[in-house]
Amino acid sequence: MTTLLRLDSSIDPVTSVTRRLTARFADRWASAGPDRRVVIHDLVANPVPHLAHESLHWAPSLRAADAPVLAEAQATQDAVIAELLAADVVVIGAPMYNYSIPSTLKTWIDHVHVPGVLAPFGDSGQPLKGRLAVVVTARGAVYDAGSENEGRDHTVPPIDIVLGDALGMRVETIAVSRTLSRTLPSMAGESSRFEAELAAAEERLDSLAASC
Ligand SMILES: Cc1cc2nc3c(=O)[nH]c(=O)nc-3n(C[C@H](O)[C@H](O)[C@H](O)COP(=O)(O)O)c2cc1C
Repeated sequence: MTTLLRLDSSIDPVTSVTRRLTARFADRWASAGPDRRVVIHDLVANPVPHLAHESLHWAPSLRAADAPVLAEAQATQDAVIAELLAADVVVIGAPMYNYSIPSTLKTWIDHVHVPGVLAPFGDSGQPLKGRLAVVVTARGAVYDAGSENEGRDHTVPPIDIVLGDALGMRVETIAVSRTLSRTLPSMAGESSRFEAELAAAEERLDSLAASC
């Protein structure tokens, strides 16, 4: 059995671009071979709580001797990590909210970026090294080189650093911009470029789904 973990964090249940794309990736991936299982973790419907204590950022063996024992919080973190470790492939919907990561996805990241468990520390390795993480982002405005928002995307870079550099995963990022051209009259002139970005994203996702 091969497992895909699909994580969604858009708070738009109806017209979300990231949910549409993560669903498409999961469908294509599941239909590409037998014995494929998709686990959906909707971080809006089923959020991961904030980390309860700074000690939870570290493996138990790296914590201070006087760190509190937080059985319930530890069990939550163990379950989040186990869900990720059980996945052969991960697809993550990461819409831009206020130039950054949705808070629900941020708490998930806080739970899995654990030196000595999933990130290397001392002799410990990277158990997720080389596994594919497909990150699908959508943002309302324009972030092209030369635009006034160039360099203001703080959604993708931290995900890339944590999953790619710290956890050693193979991160593929797919971005769609101009999504607000669907609703804002002031952005109507961007709608054809939005449609083109969406079509390119679907094509790239189909190709990635067929490759893993
Ligand atoms: C709370 C909130 C904050 C947002 N902040 C930004 C922003 O900083 N920059 C931007 O370009 N779009 C912003 N948007 C628009 C979203 O990025 C856009 O609607 C995107 O398509 C959301 O992803 P989704 O379609 O998967 O829901 C924001 C939307 C919401 C709901």
